[in-house]
Amino acid sequence: MTDRLIIFDTTLRDGEQAPGIALTPDEKVAIAHQLAKLKVDVLEAGFAASSPGDFEAVSRIAAGVEGPVIASLARAHPDDIDQAYDALKAAERFRIHVFMSTSQVHMEKMLRMTPEEVLKASVEGVKRARRYTDDVEFSPQDATRTDHDFLIEVCRAAVEAGATTINIPDTVGYATPADFVELLERVYAEVRGDRDDVIVSVHCHNDLGLAVANSLSAIRAGARQIEGAINGIGERAGNTSIEEVVMAVKTRQDVFEVEVGTDTTQLFETSRLVSRLTGYPVQYNKAVVGRNAFAHESGIHQHGVLRARETYEIMDAAAVGQRPAQIVLGKHSGRAGFADALTKMGIVLEDEAFARAFEKFKRLADRKVNIGEAEIRAIVEEESVVVEGPVSMVGLHVSGGNDVTPQAVVKLDVGGTVREFSGTGDGMVHAAFAAIRQAFPFEARLVDYRVVPVTSGADAMAEINVVIRVGDDTYAGRSVNTDVVEGSAEAFVEALNKVEK
Ligand code: KIV
Ligand code: ZN
Repeated sequence: MTDRLIIFDTTLRDGEQAPGIALTPDEKVAIAHQLAKLKVDVLEAGFAASSPGDFEAVSRIAAGVEGPVIASLARAHPDDIDQAYDALKAAERFRIHVFMSTSQVHMEKMLRMTPEEVLKASVEGVKRARRYTDDVEFSPQDATRTDHDFLIEVCRAAVEAGATTINIPDTVGYATPADFVELLERVYAEVRGDRDDVIVSVHCHNDLGLAVANSLSAIRAGARQIEGAINGIGERAGNTSIEEVVMAVKTRQDVFEVEVGTDTTQLFETSRLVSRLTGYPVQYNKAVVGRNAFAHESGIHQHGVLRARETYEIMDAAAVGQRPAQIVLGKHSGRAGFADALTKMGIVLEDEAFARAFEKFKRLADRKVNIGEAEIRAIVEEESVVVEGPVSMVGLHVSGGNDVTPQAVVKLDVGGTVREFSGTGDGMVHAAFAAIRQAFPFEARLVDYRVVPVTSGADAMAEINVVIRVGDDTYAGRSVNTDVVEGSAEAFVEALNKVEK
């Protein structure tokens, strides 16, 4: 029988640690439901002890998301482990993921602990987690820069203390496939040995662009769990891309000979949702989920694919959920036509969300002749996680030109009263932001602003992402609109509303 490869998704924990990502608990729950549809095996919902927001998200996911084993990260400290359990206890199946740094540089410079102290804390951490569950993962952080003999000693002690998964993190993305295999072979032989109840796992970062290659090479050395994030998001250059690993294993069964339980047809949808809620765009040529991943430009390639798809495609676009667009709506499409398009696209909306999406569709149809699947999807996605806040946009007027300072007048509904604010700036968006700021009683610094086209053409829709910082916290807002200034203002209001919430 072929071995099962466990897919451990850490989009909501390590992925969310990427700079500028600030997911609310509602957004994390929405992503978690989609990850469950994707059928990941383990879903790391967060690091419960790290903040009240993370605790809330882990608790809500544990209580409401069915399917995957729900995990929380915890340092090898009693308080962290107790909080992880408190957040996870409502889940049908849960895992506590205990970690402790083991490299010389981390122990000496960061933890200021001796190797003996690290060994002891690791064992105690695993034992404490075992009081709550028999599913305990242990990660020696910075494993690939750890003295190998010490790494083996700590991992063996963790297994003796009750860890059932030993995860080898390449925390700083330092490994290469060949040396990673060598290390993994040692871990497999000397830590797992003949213990069928112990799984060897890997967690690779992408600092040298090798995360997926390292993860795949580890399968050949016996790893049966791979950790990663959708779209490869994560600290610095990110983590292993789940979608790439899954499709590599599925496409090259002849090489990997392991089974994955993932529903690959959900990969594209999951990638889009994560991109939309994190505000991290997916590069056009990204493997599997990039919008050009199945696009053929050269005549020879197009000709070949028309004759036989396999001439230039090793995967079927439909297998990863990328289908050719078929639906076009317009100004005369009514409620029934819109509902029919959603059904064909496999989208289900509750009554209220449907009404809001339909209203937005009608407004767009007044400005744009043809509305295709990408635009419909963008409208619907905007309605799936709605941020109700005290302030909403009623109207916006901006003016300015080459020699005139741009000026904006914005009408906002502030707690039920419509008020007008005006502002000036270097450009129209800047002026609109200056006007909007006045409706909120706190200072917000704009830390990121991105405009990504949803479709091409002069009347294209754009997706606008705004990230602001208030104190030590970051908040993101998003909008889709054919008018970039109006969309920017909507996204800015959404981010500011999150602070108010
Ligand atoms: O990169 C890392 O070492 C981690 C661990 C906490 C698993 O994310
Ligand atoms: Zn990591």
